[in-house]
Amino acid sequence: MSVIAIDGTLASGKGTLAKCLAAHMGLPHLDTGKLYRAVGYALLKAGHSPDNAGVAIAAAQRVNLDLLSDPALLHDDVASAASKVAVIPGVRAALFDAQKAFAAQDGGAILDGRDIGTVICPNADVKLFIDADPEERARRRYDELISLGKSADYDTVLAQLKERDLRDSTRADAPLKPADDAHIIDTTDLSPDDALARAIVLVEAIIG
Ligand code: C5P
Repeated sequence: MSVIAIDGTLASGKGTLAKCLAAHMGLPHLDTGKLYRAVGYALLKAGHSPDNAGVAIAAAQRVNLDLLSDPALLHDDVASAASKVAVIPGVRAALFDAQKAFAAQDGGAILDGRDIGTVICPNADVKLFIDADPEERARRRYDELISLGKSADYDTVLAQLKERDLRDSTRADAPLKPADDAHIIDTTDLSPDDALARAIVLVEAIIG
């Protein structure tokens, strides 16, 4: 049974990498950002501020894995709300058990997020930390928005990305950072296929 923890920054390519690596290895995959997005979305939908700790904790206690395929979770305002509720320790505590249970299933699992290698699966067999220059990540996000037919301004995308990075990496509880034993993959100059190939080499070298 292998557990692979993949953490990283926004638009670094970690989500695509986790999904493709899971398909390659035949392992189940959990995008843990969706849990925080589900909490943020529940608050926005009910007209609450994402800073409202009491309501956010109650929403986190109701989140389950069946709620995670809702396309509404992909919206930028939901992403921003997710990073605000993620600062609340009670929200993180309420989402802890579901993530641990996913990681503990027979046969192993791949989880991606911000604190998988540091908090959720500190004993993971392989830990990857995916990053890229902010300007390149903003360009990817900008291109994605344009390809979806949305209007976007590159400077605004870059500013929002830096704001979310800062909130994720400076919060007191489970801040975004590589685990001491994580392997860093910088995808600034890598295609998604190149990043996947690099990850496969690392994983195979570690767990065979
Ligand atoms: O990965 P994604 O962009 O969907 O994550 C949304 C937000 O959820 C992140 O900005 C982060 O604040 C939070 N998150 C977290 N811990 C995780 C996964 C996501 O705090 N393991």
